[in-house]
Amino acid sequence: MKENESFLFLLGSARRNGNTEQLARIAAAALPETAMQDWLHLHDYPLPPFVDQRHEPGSVYEAPTGHEARLLERTLAASHLVFAMPLYWYSLPADAKRYLDYWSAWLRVPGVEFKRRMAGKSMSVVTTVSDGDRRAAAPLIDSLRLTADYMSMQFHGAVIAGGNRPGEALAERTAVDELSALLSTRVEA
Ligand SMILES: Cc1cc2nc3c(=O)[nH]c(=O)nc-3n(C[C@H](O)[C@H](O)[C@H](O)COP(=O)(O)O)c2cc1C
Repeated sequence: MKENESFLFLLGSARRNGNTEQLARIAAAALPETAMQDWLHLHDYPLPPFVDQRHEPGSVYEAPTGHEARLLERTLAASHLVFAMPLYWYSLPADAKRYLDYWSAWLRVPGVEFKRRMAGKSMSVVTTVSDGDRRAAAPLIDSLRLTADYMSMQFHGAVIAGGNRPGEALAERTAVDELSALLSTRVEA
C-alpha cells in the first residue's frame, strides 16, 4: 500500500446495508488508517436521464452541476474505485449504469481531462448474487473490466459473494477474506 491512497466505495444497491455494502465495509475496516475512504451511495445522487449530445451540431458539454458535479469530483479524487454492486438482472444496477453513462459526458467536458485523470486509477468489484451459479455475475464483471480497459484504468479484480437477505453473504468468510486481500494489495501505478 502506497501513501495517500484513497478509496471510493461506490454503493449500487437499491437498499442500505445490504450484503454487498456489509461485505465492503468489513473488508475496508482492514485497510490501513492512512488509506482514505469515501463511501458514496449512488442512490443519494440521482441523475436525470442521460442525454447523448455528442453529434448535435455545435454541442458543447457544460460543466456539471449539482449531483453530477459531486459525483465527478469524488470520482476524480480517488485513486481506487471499488464498485460494490449487487447483481440486478445479470448486470449493473440502474443507478450504476447511469453513473457510468455520465462518464461519456465527462470525457467531453472542456477542461476536465477526464480520460487523462482516470488513467492509472484502479478498479475493484464486489458483487452479491442470489443465483446458485456465480457465473451469473459475468456480464456485470465483464462490463466493468472492459470499462476499466477503455479508460486505461487497472482492473484489479472481482469478488463474487452469494446471498439474498441482508447479511447472508457474510456467512461465507471467503468472500470477506478475498475482498480484504484484494483491497489491501498494493496497486502499482
Ligand atoms: C432488481 C433486482 C434484480 C436482481 N437480479 C438478480 C439476478 O439477475 N441474479 C441474481 O443472482 N440475483 C438477482 N437479484 C438478487 C440480488 O442480487 C440479491 O438479493 C443481493 O443479495 C442484493 O444485494 P444487496 O444485499 O447488496 O442489496 C436481484 C435483486 C433485485 C432487487
